Amino acid sequence: MTNMAEQPDWVNRVYCEDALAGLARIPDGSVDLILTDPPYNLGKDYGNASDQQSVADYLRWTEQWIDAALPKLKANGSLYIFLTWRYSPEIFVMLKQRMAMMNEIIWDRRVPSMGGSVRSFSSVHDTIGFFVKRKDYYFDLDAVRIAYDAATKKARSRSIFIGAKWLEVGYNPKDLWSVSRLHKEHPERADHPTQKPLEIIERMVKASCPPGGVVLDLFMGSGTTALAAKRCGRDFVGFELNPDYCAIIEQRLTALAQELAEPAVPTPEKKAPAKRRAAAAAPKAAKAASKKPAAAKKPPAVKKAPARKARSAAVPEDVVI
Ligand SMILES: C[S@@+](CC[C@H](N)C(=O)[O-])C[C@H]1O[C@@H](n2cnc3c(N)ncnc32)[C@H](O)[C@@H]1O
Repeated sequence: MTNMAEQPDWVNRVYCEDALAGLARIPDGSVDLILTDPPYNLGKDYGNASDQQSVADYLRWTEQWIDAALPKLKANGSLYIFLTWRYSPEIFVMLKQRMAMMNEIIWDRRVPSMGGSVRSFSSVHDTIGFFVKRKDYYFDLDAVRIAYDAATKKARSRSIFIGAKWLEVGYNPKDLWSVSRLHKEHPERADHPTQKPLEIIERMVKASCPPGGVVLDLFMGSGTTALAAKRCGRDFVGFELNPDYCAIIEQRLTALAQELAEPAVPTPEKKAPAKRRAAAAAPKAAKAASKKPAAAKKPPAVKKAPARKARSAAVPEDVVI
C-alpha cells in the first residue's frame, strides 16, 4: 500500500455523493486510470433515478460526466467504460472525439440461455471500451498474460515452432473475455444488482495502472474497483450515490484489510502470531474505514439491503481505507 503519510487526502476514499459534484475534489492530471461502470439506462433501481432517464437526458448527462472526468487523467492515462450495445455506439463516438479507442472488449457473462427473447437474439454480453489519451500510454502486457496450458506447450515446443519464445511468458488476452457473472451464491457477491467480477477489473488495473498509481471510478456500486485497486497494490478514489451501497463498500474494504493483514493459510506454529498481528492491524484498518468499532474478525457476509427500501436515516460517512 502507498505510504499513508504522503498521500493526498482524496486518495483511497469513496465519497458518498454525486460524482459530478465530487470530481472537483480531485486535482487535474492526477489519476492514472479511469475505470468506470456507469448506469446503462436500462431502468434498473439503484435507489436513484440514474438508470431511468430519457435517452436524451442520459446521453447529455454521460457527456457531462465524461467532460468533467477526463481532465483528471494523467497525460499517459487510460479509460475503460462498461456499457451495453444499447448506448455504446453513441458513447463510443463521444469518447472517440476526445481520445483514441484501443479496443472494444466483449465481456461474455456466460449467461445460460433463458429463452427470454422471442423477437431478437438473447443478449449475453457487456461492451467495454478501452481508450487512451496519447500514444505513450501506460500498458503492462506482461502483468496480464495468460499461461498456456500444458498440452499446448507440449504440442508447440518443437524448435521449429516460431512462436516458441512466447510459450513461457503466456499469451496476450484476446478482446473476448469469458468470465461468469456473479451468481447469488458466488462468494464474491455483495448486495448490488450489477456488481462486476474482480477478475475482470483486476486485469484492467494491472494492465493500465502502474503499481502505486491511482484508479478513479465515478460509479463505485459495491466498490469492486476500490477492492481490485487495493488487491493489486494501487490506490483508488471514487463516488457512489446510494448510501446503502456506500455501507457495502465499507464492509468489503474492511474485510479486505483484515484479509491482507492475515496470511491466507496460517501454519499451526504461525497461527498465534498471525492472530496477534491481525488483532493489531484490524482495528487500525477499521478505524480508518469508519469511526465505528472494528468489525468482527471474519469478513462479514454482506447483508441484503435492497436499494429500493427506505434509506437508513444516517447517511454513511465517506469510505476511507
Ligand atoms: C453499474 S453500477 C456500478 C457497479 C460496480 N461496478 C460494482 O461492481 O459493484 C452504477 C452505480 O452508479 C451509482 N450512481 C448513479 N449515478 C451516480 C452519480 N451521479 N454519482 C455517483 N454514483 C452514481 C449507482 O447508484 C450504481 O450503484
